[in-house]
Amino acid sequence: MNNHSGDIVIVDDNPNNLRVLGIMLQRFGYKIRPALNGETALKSIRTNPPDLVLLDIRMPDMDGYEVCRQLKLNPTIAEIPVIFVSALQDTEDKLMAFKSGGVDYITKPFQLEEVLARVDTHIRLHQIQRDLQRLVDERTHALTVSLFTLNENQKRYSHILEQTIQALALTIEKRDPYTAGHQSRVSKLAVNIAREMNLTDDFIEGLRLGAMVHDIGKIYIPAEILNRSGQLTAIEFSLIKTHPQVGYDIMKDVAFPWSVAEMIYQHHERLDGSGYPRGLKGDEILLEARILTVADVLEAMASHRPYRLAVGIEKGLEEIQRGAGSCYDAAVVAACLRLFENGENPLAEIIDEPMSNELLL
Ligand SMILES: [Fe+2]
Repeated sequence: MNNHSGDIVIVDDNPNNLRVLGIMLQRFGYKIRPALNGETALKSIRTNPPDLVLLDIRMPDMDGYEVCRQLKLNPTIAEIPVIFVSALQDTEDKLMAFKSGGVDYITKPFQLEEVLARVDTHIRLHQIQRDLQRLVDERTHALTVSLFTLNENQKRYSHILEQTIQALALTIEKRDPYTAGHQSRVSKLAVNIAREMNLTDDFIEGLRLGAMVHDIGKIYIPAEILNRSGQLTAIEFSLIKTHPQVGYDIMKDVAFPWSVAEMIYQHHERLDGSGYPRGLKGDEILLEARILTVADVLEAMASHRPYRLAVGIEKGLEEIQRGAGSCYDAAVVAACLRLFENGENPLAEIIDEPMSNELLL
């Protein structure tokens, strides 16, 4: 006796065939539901989906092919295996049976062993397919949940990174109120220039973060020098010139996916090698640093410094234009000028800022 039981719907318009096949399969542990026509069979299958359908072909009203086609059109029962059982011997009939969705074909008169073997095989196969599908569904669900958690964590870490960068920027600006906001304004202008140059979002994000902390090395310079009005001495100026190197040292071990430390290191380099601290030239300077330089110069000229009043945005634009191709990257300058020509002014808040008496001293 077969120890594998299953629920089988047998469809045949001949009650005698139904009874013979039914009794035979019942003896081997299968639960049988007979149906004398296609209509009754489909109703029974839809109401309570079996593990297998044994289907006669030649029946009045609706033949076996049509029953099978209708069954396959319904997604909830389409996966149930259908074995055709027919006296039709032609290859044409068998082909038609497979085309309409059958998985197997048994020719009448049948051998008991053959029927049992095929029924058992297809029920097992169907069971394996269902188990596999369930496993795939479970894994897909688990993966979707993991992906969601990963996205949430990524959002959280991005936010923390942003806040850390802001805190770093604020650290230096607290000591140097005259340049407070300088880094974020430079960052905003640099981002606008990079967008005008059609650079990628990823590049722009790295540039934005680097620019936010490009003067972090000023933490090393005594506050009296940073905040003092009047001309700086040569020694004081040489001390100020160490800030790119100090900034690099502070940031070099942070594993950013962008060259943030190098941007900071290079933001006072000039295309013709006249900059500091290394006197790098042309392509030796990162594009990010070349953009940062132009934004830095323009912002510095547009805003007040302890030792001088604002030179003004117009003069700043003239300066970068004069230095295009020598000190500054010509393409970066061109993009920057286009921004201002188009009426965009990322530095507008500086120009509109009323000049305080304190700053005039
Ligand atoms: Fe700087």
